[in-house]
Amino acid sequence: MDANTCIRTKRDSREYKDEPISEETLQRILQAGRMAGSSKNTQPWHFIVLRDDARKAELAKCGDFAKHVPAAPLVIAVVLSPGGGAFDAGRAAQNMMLAAWAEGITSCPVAMHHADCASNVLGLPDDYQTAIVISFGYPESEASLHRGIPRNALADLVHQEQW
Ligand SMILES: Cc1cc2nc3c(=O)[nH]c(=O)nc-3n(C[C@H](O)[C@H](O)[C@H](O)COP(=O)(O)O)c2cc1C
Repeated sequence: MDANTCIRTKRDSREYKDEPISEETLQRILQAGRMAGSSKNTQPWHFIVLRDDARKAELAKCGDFAKHVPAAPLVIAVVLSPGGGAFDAGRAAQNMMLAAWAEGITSCPVAMHHADCASNVLGLPDDYQTAIVISFGYPESEASLHRGIPRNALADLVHQEQW
């Protein structure tokens, strides 16, 4: 899949096949996150890989819209180092999601609305925080990939030279 197709067809999907993601594929996803650029190359992130059912279920309780997380074969928490910027974490997260999609693995970012709960489940050191959790899996069906949520038209959001 070329980069443009990968970006355009990537949709956040929450229904996954009960099929594991191989260690080799996982390493490629993690490498894509690692290679993201960051402010002053601070690389202010850690990635916590979760595959244990009980821990995924515990983590799901820390988000208000995370019911699908326990059934995902792979979950990666993107953790921000102290002082790290959300933009940097977002770049790493999107890199991982696109690298996965290029191999036919869909994903969904999941917010942890209860930060202390997530820190506790993930065993984070003081001052580290969960930027986002990402669920990954092979798509359950074609239909699960096409919820049809539209994007705003370029004409409504692009400006030339000034607002
Ligand atoms: C920062 C962020 C937090 C999100 N949190 C959740 C979440 O907690 N639960 C969820 O199901 N989806 C979550 N999403 C996914 C959005 O709902 C999704 O990106 C949006 O609806 C577009 O979906 P689409 O790509 O399938 O069109 C989140 C997305 C972002 C960028």
